[in-house]
Amino acid sequence: MTRLGVNIDHIATLRQQRKEGQPNLADAARWAIAGGADNITMHLREDRRHIQDSDIFDLRPLVNELNFECATASDIIDIAIQVTPEWACIVPEKRTELTTEGGLYLAGNNQHLQSTIQKLQDHGIQVSLFINPTPLDVEIAKSLNANGIELHTGTYALSPTPELELAAIKDCASLAADMALKVQAGHGLNYSNIIAISQIAQIEEVNIGHSIICRAVEVGLTTATQEMKRLLNPTNS
Ligand code: PXP
Repeated sequence: MTRLGVNIDHIATLRQQRKEGQPNLADAARWAIAGGADNITMHLREDRRHIQDSDIFDLRPLVNELNFECATASDIIDIAIQVTPEWACIVPEKRTELTTEGGLYLAGNNQHLQSTIQKLQDHGIQVSLFINPTPLDVEIAKSLNANGIELHTGTYALSPTPELELAAIKDCASLAADMALKVQAGHGLNYSNIIAISQIAQIEEVNIGHSIICRAVEVGLTTATQEMKRLLNPTNS
């Protein structure tokens, strides 16, 4: 079984266009869960461009498994500690980017990252690091004592010749699983490119936002989630 996390940031993006409460984020979470979402993912960005602090607190009781995406800013980490999601996924954040553009830069001094991981874990929150698919970054994630990694699939998703990227993702998934890290993958995954990713046994979970929310415009979020879940686990459908 490959688990599916549904990222509902884009529902909040649409709501923030008018700031009048529609579409309703709690309904979106319920619809995704009804369609088989195994977690609900929300990224509380420092610029609060989509998810708001209140969303995290309002949705926490509705969601059995919350994957809280965040950078390491101390006010955001304090919110994580208050809501205690099952998982926190630490990502890099840039003000000017349209969406997260790549994995964490791990080649420098990781002291702040390491103490953030420890702080979250001390409060019972498991931590994954959003990383580029390189063996070195997997090894660094392990050395920082992360519980898991989320492999950045954005380059794979955009490549006209994705075989090389796919091979790198496979190798890193295998290396990480051997190190007892939980292996997730995400970014740019859609109803076509998910097939090859779903065949990588070591990837336990994918986190998908944009393509599912786009499909939901046509068929509704419950059906859009079900369709993705079926592609991920064809033998169970
Ligand atoms: N995983 C991470 C760490 C992300 O930052 C994002 C984008 O917010 C996603 C998954 C989902 O990406 P997409 O919206 O392209 O499916």
